[in-house]
Amino acid sequence: MTGTHIELPDPAATSRFGRCLGQRAEPGDIFTLGGPLGAGKTTLTQAVGLGLDVPGSCYITSPTFSLLHEYPGRFSLYHLDLYRLGDESEIEELGFLDYIYGNGLTVIEWPDRLGSLMPADRLHIELLPVSASSRRAVLTGHGMMQVEKFLIP
Ligand SMILES: Nc1ncnc2c1ncn2[C@@H]1O[C@H](COP(=O)(O)OP(=O)(O)OP(=O)(O)O)[C@@H](O)[C@H]1O
Ligand SMILES: [Mg+2]
Repeated sequence: MTGTHIELPDPAATSRFGRCLGQRAEPGDIFTLGGPLGAGKTTLTQAVGLGLDVPGSCYITSPTFSLLHEYPGRFSLYHLDLYRLGDESEIEELGFLDYIYGNGLTVIEWPDRLGSLMPADRLHIELLPVSASSRRAVLTGHGMMQVEKFLIP
């Protein structure tokens, strides 16, 4: 798979990686998270929240049943889990585009559900299970999004 590969040998590595992403994020950024059930998308989002200074009292859980959760941080974190989205017209009906194109950081699990509404400018992170405790992240910048901004010098 093309893109920048980052090895995440244990959950602590995923947490460090996510915090770094959250620290470097700017208002309006969009992260799309790919990978199978249990790959670590929500785990990574929790760490992104820490990097964004979301208070520890705001525990980030999977928004599967509400599709979208909003957390206060350095700027807002919008966490979408579209696993149970019916079809892309729901995105417009629910007003999610206002969040996605707003001034927060939007993190989207199961972004393929967006179909033609997939944002052009985004950092895509594909999480690939390697073993029970290790993952590989493959980062790809789309549109105006540069992967380099998130890489450790
Ligand atoms: N290196 C790792 N990085 C991240 N998570 C890991 C790692 N190793 C093991 N895990 C475990 O994998 C699980 C990932 O669950 P998580 O809910 O984050 O996945 P998900 O991709 O959001 O799944 P879903 O598609 O169901 O929303 C957690 O139990 C986590 O502890
Ligand atoms: Mg999840």
